[in-house]
Amino acid sequence: MNETLKAISNRRSTRSYKEEQIRDTELNDILEAAIAAPNAVGIPKWHLTVVQDKDLLDRIVEDVIEAIKKSNNKFLIDVVSIPNHHSFHHAPTVIFVSGDNNSPYCQYDCCAATENILIAAESLNIGSCWIGTFLSLFASEKGEEYKKELGIPEGYNLISAVTLGYKETENAVVPSRKKDVINFIRRR
Ligand SMILES: Cc1cc2nc3c(=O)[nH]c(=O)nc-3n(C[C@H](O)[C@H](O)[C@H](O)COP(=O)(O)O)c2cc1C
Repeated sequence: MNETLKAISNRRSTRSYKEEQIRDTELNDILEAAIAAPNAVGIPKWHLTVVQDKDLLDRIVEDVIEAIKKSNNKFLIDVVSIPNHHSFHHAPTVIFVSGDNNSPYCQYDCCAATENILIAAESLNIGSCWIGTFLSLFASEKGEEYKKELGIPEGYNLISAVTLGYKETENAVVPSRKKDVINFIRRR
């Protein structure tokens, strides 16, 4: 298996991070990988916001929890009710990915960039996790204030976030994924 395939298959969501910040060179490599992702019409409509500010991330988490508790989403209410829940798993770096509302394909572009971040991080042995829970906050008025604070461009919406940091523990070994989701149509 080559190094790219190893990174793809070894990647697991990391939910426990060391406090130590990742190196800027590593972060830059990850950001380069993000913006190398494919995009639908050749003009990427994504924006990346890197946050390495524990106080700001903790504040966002408090407001995420409040927003989810006011919602009807039982799944997420259960998630945030777990004692010591932290939507960003206390990671030292979070990259927020947002996309242009006016681009019908921006969700695809942003998800491609998000996946590239995860694979690039794993290739550097940096832990990562795709985060969606926090999005509940961005549907509210408070979310609009955070969009300004985070420097999200006008007319852009949050699509995903990725936590990054050195892994506290090695990746869990998970059973291989079911292969019955694949079929072949071949002419021989
Ligand atoms: C759209 C999306 C949203 C996700 N949101 C969260 C999240 O908010 N919190 C979290 O811990 N994991 C989140 N995950 C990670 C999934 O839980 C994880 O990828 C899945 O359980 C498979 O495990 P693996 O990543 O270790 O292979 C999300 C993944 C995706 C694709």
